[in-house]
Amino acid sequence: MRSFTAAAVLGLAATTIAAPTATKKAKPTSLADGFPTPNANQLDRIEDLAFGTLSDAAPPPSLKDDTFTSLRFINFGEAIESFFFNELITNITLNRPGFQNIPNRDQTLRILRSMRATEELHTVNAENALSHFKQDIIQPCQYKFPVSTFNEAIAFISTATDNVQGVLGDVINKAAAAGDAGFTRGVSGALSNEGEQDGWFRFIMGQNPNQKPFNTISTREYAFSVLQGVVVPGSCANADLIDLTIFPPLSAANPPAKTTDIDFTFSIAPFTPSTAPAGKKIQSFATQESFHKKHSNVEGLSIAYLNGQDKPICVPVKSLHFNGFEGTAKAEFPFDEFKMHGLSVAALVEVDAKTCFANQDEMVKATAFGPALLEPVGDERI
Ligand SMILES: *[C@@H]1O[C@H](CO)[C@@H](O)[C@H](O)[C@H]1NC(C)=O
Repeated sequence: MRSFTAAAVLGLAATTIAAPTATKKAKPTSLADGFPTPNANQLDRIEDLAFGTLSDAAPPPSLKDDTFTSLRFINFGEAIESFFFNELITNITLNRPGFQNIPNRDQTLRILRSMRATEELHTVNAENALSHFKQDIIQPCQYKFPVSTFNEAIAFISTATDNVQGVLGDVINKAAAAGDAGFTRGVSGALSNEGEQDGWFRFIMGQNPNQKPFNTISTREYAFSVLQGVVVPGSCANADLIDLTIFPPLSAANPPAKTTDIDFTFSIAPFTPSTAPAGKKIQSFATQESFHKKHSNVEGLSIAYLNGQDKPICVPVKSLHFNGFEGTAKAEFPFDEFKMHGLSVAALVEVDAKTCFANQDEMVKATAFGPALLEPVGDERI
């Protein structure tokens, strides 16, 4: 069973990982193959491992500001995947505890090496586009992945890849709306590649490679928020250039594949995003400061879910409890009615469930905490 809920990923990271000393800027991290800035020979080798080249198509003459935000986010997110695969390959290669006796070990390593190289090229492509337009590239941060076995690693990256696919859809949609059609084709090439990767993750976990007929929508804000959980706080040199709202975390245990009540937990204590530069003043959100006062009961509070390409699904919060700063909201996971297989992106939102939202952008605007990424496994088992 997979759980890449905020509980697993974030583990309320700020409480478990000490922020590095605030005095000096975090050093950029790099890999043995030259990533994130490979030279020409290193790039040639990465392309061989990834079975293809970076696109040589001419970049569009200009891009809108919002599309630069997408590029920075892609630069940030694809680098995380590159470092993840590198660490997983190292764990298997060194036979670390939890990564021993992998089925089809040689084949698995060959596949993972191709995925590392592929993610590196997705990253370098975004870096090159930013550099072409004289924008700073986003330096890698230090990461801490919530996995200690091979199976956990595959479950984690599968859910993360589902989320990435949803976000790349959002990126394409936003670029099209901004008039940057020239940017969309390359992104769709990366998106379909991520789907191929996830088909393999699902298959080796004993699940049907087909997740849903239309994979789940995510948004840049939700993805940036949930990825805070894998970043060592204060270790990013310049990820704060990514101008996207970061929501405080929402956690839930992965539910079974049936309609059931879920306890969502969150904290109204002051919250600092992990990507904030070390030493930055604590950022606290209006929603948190006022949350307790505003929401002494469940009125006007819902859990909203994104699943497939459906409109957001809202369910009322049934009960709300606080233990100090720690809040628990109970709400239904309406799996049966909406066939909520695959990824669900859940958020605690300030709206009456009857009103709900026409689309994911409205949902983002009303979000107080989130997202929790839920992925129950039922009939998908093969
Ligand atoms: C690699 O193994 C270490 C433990 O040896 C673990 O902490 C880390 O999360 C693992 N990373 C991946 C990506 O498998």
